[in-house]
This record gives sequence, C-alpha cells and structure tokens, in this order.
Amino acid sequence: MSRGTRAVIDLDALRHNLRVARQAAPHSRVLAVVKADGYGHGLRAVAGALAGLADGLGVATFDEGMALRDSGVAGTVLLMEGVMNTAQLQQAAGAGLDLVVHQPWQVSMLLAARLSRPVRVWLKVNTGMHRLGMEPAGAALFWQQLRASANVTDLVLMSHMACADEPDHAMNRQQQEGFAALVQQLAPAGASLANSATTLNLPGGHYQWVRPGLMLYGASPFANTPATELDLRPVMQLEARVISRMVVPAGGALGYGATWQAPRDTPVAVVAIGYGDGYPRHLSPAAQVLIKGVRCPVVGRVSMDMITVDVSAQPDAGPHTSVTLWGPGLPVEAVAAWANTVNYELLCQITGRVEREYRGGAE
Ligand SMILES: Cc1ncc(COP(=O)(O)O)c(C=O)c1O
Repeated sequence: MSRGTRAVIDLDALRHNLRVARQAAPHSRVLAVVKADGYGHGLRAVAGALAGLADGLGVATFDEGMALRDSGVAGTVLLMEGVMNTAQLQQAAGAGLDLVVHQPWQVSMLLAARLSRPVRVWLKVNTGMHRLGMEPAGAALFWQQLRASANVTDLVLMSHMACADEPDHAMNRQQQEGFAALVQQLAPAGASLANSATTLNLPGGHYQWVRPGLMLYGASPFANTPATELDLRPVMQLEARVISRMVVPAGGALGYGATWQAPRDTPVAVVAIGYGDGYPRHLSPAAQVLIKGVRCPVVGRVSMDMITVDVSAQPDAGPHTSVTLWGPGLPVEAVAAWANTVNYELLCQITGRVEREYRGGAE
C-alpha cells in the first residue's frame, strides 16, 4: 500500500485558469509558461491538458523544450533562456523551437550558424529588471542584424516585469514606458511583456503575446488578493495521511530539538510528509493543515518524512485520516506566508517521492 503522500492535480482547473488568462487579455495570444516541470505539476501532463487551448508553451531550458518535443508536443515552444551553445542551437532549430536571445554572444552565434531550418527569435531587452536582456540602446542594432539573417524567420520583442505583483510599484510604469518606446522604434510584428500579474492587472502591457505562469496553476500573483477573488482554481491539492497518533502529556516535548511542549494533554497526529517531500521545514507557529475541513496547527519541527499536528480541533483524526497541506480550502499562499516564501517555490519544490495523481483534462 502506498504511503498516501500525493499531489492531486486537477487538469480541469488548469484549463479553467488558462481561460481566465485569455479573458483577461482577449486580444493577445497566450504562451503558457510550463517551466520547472510545469511549476511542479508535471510538464507532460500540463502540456497535454493545455493542448489546443494555449497558443504556445514557454520553458526555461533547452532540455525542457526537447522533452516537450519528445513527448509529441507540436507548435510554439519558447526557450526563455535561449540556447547555450551551437550544438543546442542546431538541435533546437531542427526541433522547431523558438529561442529567446538575450546576450550579444547569442546573436553572434545565431548569425554565424548553419541551421537546417531558420528559427523564430524573441529578442529580450532589459527594461529595468537587469536580469536577462539587451540594453535598450543597443537593441536596434541586434534587431536589424537578426532581421537580415537567413537563420531567422520572424522576430518578437520581449521583456519581463520585475514588480507587477505589486500594483503600485513605480517600476511598473517605468518598464511599460521603456518597452513601449522600443516597440515604437522597432515596430515588431509581435511583442511580449506580461507575466501573470501583468496579464491580470496591466492591460497596457498585453501586446501580442502574454506569458502567464503562476496563475495557470490557480495561485495568486498578488500578496493581498486571494486566487479565488481572481476566479482562479487551485490545480494542486497536496495530501498526506496520518500514520500515528498519541497524546502528548502536559509539559511533554515533541520532535527534534524539543521545540514544542504540550500546554495541556494534547492529541497529536503524525502525518507522513516532511521536507524530504518538499513541505517547507521553516514554518511560523501559525502554520496549519486541513483535516476534514477543520484547520489544525502544525506543532514541533517539520522533519524529513513527517510533521506533527495538534488535532484537538479534530479529535477523530487517526491512522489513515487524510490531511490536506494545501489546495482547495487552504491556499498555497497561506502556507507560503507561514514559510516566509512565495507560492512559486512551494509548488516547484515538491519532490519525486510525492505521487502525482491526475484528474480531468479531457476536452
Ligand atoms: C520570462 C518569463 N516570462 C513569464 C514568466 C511567468 O511568470 P509568472 O509565473 O509570474 O506568471 C516567467 C516566470 O518566471 C518568466 O521568467
């Protein structure tokens, strides 16, 4: 019998969330971002469920792009870090992958290469985030060189927003203005700026392609707006089972470091999930799990394979009882806040030991 620690992935919710992105940006094509194993949900399953709904898929690396092609995904697949060498460039071109070009050496490599077929290039410019992208002053030269190259079919201009998750941040306007100036200068047939937060909140940043990631998985990109308010449905429900239960007597210590002492005789359930499964080790004392609809506090340290939960509020909990770590009824955003991190990280860091179980996803 399996340990019961699993991520139940609702592919219908994923498809619903894609439609929410499309409604938010009705005049744009949607490049669904599926990097990092579909934000931890499973690259192939996510790509399969989005087939026919998304206009393209975005991944970070060459390997992720080739994995999509190997699993039979046709159509637009964008490598958002581009390729790292000529061998990758040739294979990517052969596989019909789109490439981000963000460094002068990538332009030189592309201009000098002999390719079996030309590629579509997304020239990335830095509009203020200072991570990947050409400096705007030099962008026109690279743009012209790429446009003149027989190795390039067509060109999209792109950039990435640093602070769109904070609607009032001054960078949002600065980056949008900088990008708009480049769009005016270069007059690309296609342009792309929007992540989830921009897709949902900054219509001026939509252009021809939006690139939502997080929102597709039903998580909110905004600290103060729950996903449900954005009509997003959680895709992942992380579950585990109670494997033991005992009463810690008043004053008794619990777990590594004896960091928690029972204030009174306390029923405690041991749940089969820990940081070896990707559940965060560092949690504030406010952290909770959901047992049959009732929130119960996590007490004591998170260990590699187990957590311990005060089940005073759910006295029926015992061996085999199902526990929800996040999902419907307990947003991943709440757990991220207790762990002093972001929902992105929690979703991505679920390890291979956790079974993925897929529901829905058909037309
Ligand atoms: C270049 C690029 N575009 C789009 C996205 C999607 O962002 P989000 O998950 O915030 O929607 C990412 C994710 O980090 C990215 O790196």
